Amino acid sequence: MKKTVIANWKMCGTPDSSKAWAQEFTAQLSGTTAKSEIVVCPPFPLISILKEALGESPVKLGAQNCHIQPEGAYTGETSALLLNALGCEYVIVGHSERRAQCGESSDIVRQKATRAIKTGLIPVICIGETATQRENGKTLDIINQQIEESLPFEAAAGNFILAYEPVWAIGSGNLPTMDEITQVHRAIITNVSKRIALDITQVSVLYGGSVKPDNAGEIMALPEVSGVLVGGASLKAEEFYKIAASC
Ligand code: PGA
Repeated sequence: MKKTVIANWKMCGTPDSSKAWAQEFTAQLSGTTAKSEIVVCPPFPLISILKEALGESPVKLGAQNCHIQPEGAYTGETSALLLNALGCEYVIVGHSERRAQCGESSDIVRQKATRAIKTGLIPVICIGETATQRENGKTLDIINQQIEESLPFEAAAGNFILAYEPVWAIGSGNLPTMDEITQVHRAIITNVSKRIALDITQVSVLYGGSVKPDNAGEIMALPEVSGVLVGGASLKAEEFYKIAASC
């Protein structure tokens, strides 16, 4: 199956830098047949700018968050409906930075994922354990609990993606071993496929956390890994291209 490679720019980028990124990335991409589904999630104000700069390229757009309600008096928030209208096809929900910094509970994450699905966006639902939880041998307990609480009731084949992002691996340069990634992904796939009666091949789980050009190939070669979610290394078009091309 086609792997999915998603760039999460977080709170980085400007109109000029995103235009330059798009120019460089599409130049690298042209002439090659993109084997993966490539998605870029910039900050909200850069979505339209990037869309125009990407032109006819096969690169898709996503956002990093959305609100649980369709629209209304929610100052400072952005609706899934608007993201859809701007050309987004994906939205990241429940990133660990939002869970930790904005107090987003798994229940809120579930409601955001539900709103995304109802609006025709594919939610990329992030789950993952902290360093302490890992040291205490709680990784699978935490993962299973987050699945139970964050997975929307509307989840069905092809309308959602999960991303396993160990919190301690994000931005740290530290990665789980390939065996550890395999074990956790297997546990996620088994849990989700049972929960919503899907075939295991229908459950997509991306890996995220310190993915770089020199480890992306090995990670994406794992059969249990459906692709990668990339933070820091997605900001440079050249690095992100190498990652996207490594599957
Ligand atoms: P990183 O971030 O690639 O910089 O570790 C990944 C993420 O937070 O999604």
